[in-house]
Amino acid sequence: MTSAPYLASARQLASRVFTELLNAGDRAVDATLGNGHDCALMCRLVGETGHVDGFDVQEKALSNTRALLDALGLTARAALHLMGHERMAEVVRPGIRLAAFNLGWLPGSDKRLTTRAGTTLSALEAALGLLNTGGMAVVCVYPGHEEGAREQQALMEYARALPPDRYTVLWHCFLNGGPGVPGCLMIEKISFGG
Ligand SMILES: C[S@@+](CC[C@H](N)C(=O)[O-])C[C@H]1O[C@@H](n2cnc3c(N)ncnc32)[C@H](O)[C@@H]1O
Repeated sequence: MTSAPYLASARQLASRVFTELLNAGDRAVDATLGNGHDCALMCRLVGETGHVDGFDVQEKALSNTRALLDALGLTARAALHLMGHERMAEVVRPGIRLAAFNLGWLPGSDKRLTTRAGTTLSALEAALGLLNTGGMAVVCVYPGHEEGAREQQALMEYARALPPDRYTVLWHCFLNGGPGVPGCLMIEKISFGG
C-alpha cells in the first residue's frame, strides 16, 4: 500500500499543527474561509464547547463554508463573518488558541479577489493581539503570483522583527521546490510581554 508523502504541502503541515494545537473548548479564527475545509477541521477539533470565527470578503466563500459545515453537522460551532480579516478584532474576543490564514484566492473564482499584503499584515497583527499565550498564528503563503510574492516579502520582514521574548517564529519552506513554492509561517505567542 502506498501512503501520501509526509512532506506533501504547506497546507498539510498547517493541518497537522491545527490538529496538535486545538483541544475541545478552544476558540479559533479562520481568517480566510474559502471553501471551508480548514474551518471544518477546526470546528471538529474544538468540539461542541469550542468556537470558530471565520472571515471572508466573498459571499460565495461563506455559502460554500456554510454548506460544508451543514453537511458535517458542525454549523453550531462557527460564526461566519462577511468582512475583511483585518477587522477581526471588532468581533473576536481575545483569548484565541489559533489564527489560520490560507492566502490567495477562492479556488475556481476571480483571482483578482486575492488576499493582499497590506490587509494581510494588518490582520496578522490583529490576530497576534487576540492570541492566548501558547496560541499560534499559521499562515500558508503562495509567492508564485505577483501579490503572493509581495505578501511573502512583507510577512518575512514583519515576522523577523517580532520580539523574541514574546513570539517564536518559524518559516517552513520546501528548499528544492523551485521558484514560487508555497511556504508556511508559524508564530507562537510565548508571552504577553511587559
Ligand atoms: C485560498 S482561499 C482559502 C481556502 C480555505 N482556507 C479553505 O480551506 O478552503 C483564500 C480566501 O481568502 C479570501 N480573502 C481575500 N481577501 C480577504 C480579506 N481581506 N479578508 C478575509 N478573506 C479574504 C478570498 O476571498 C478567498 O476565499
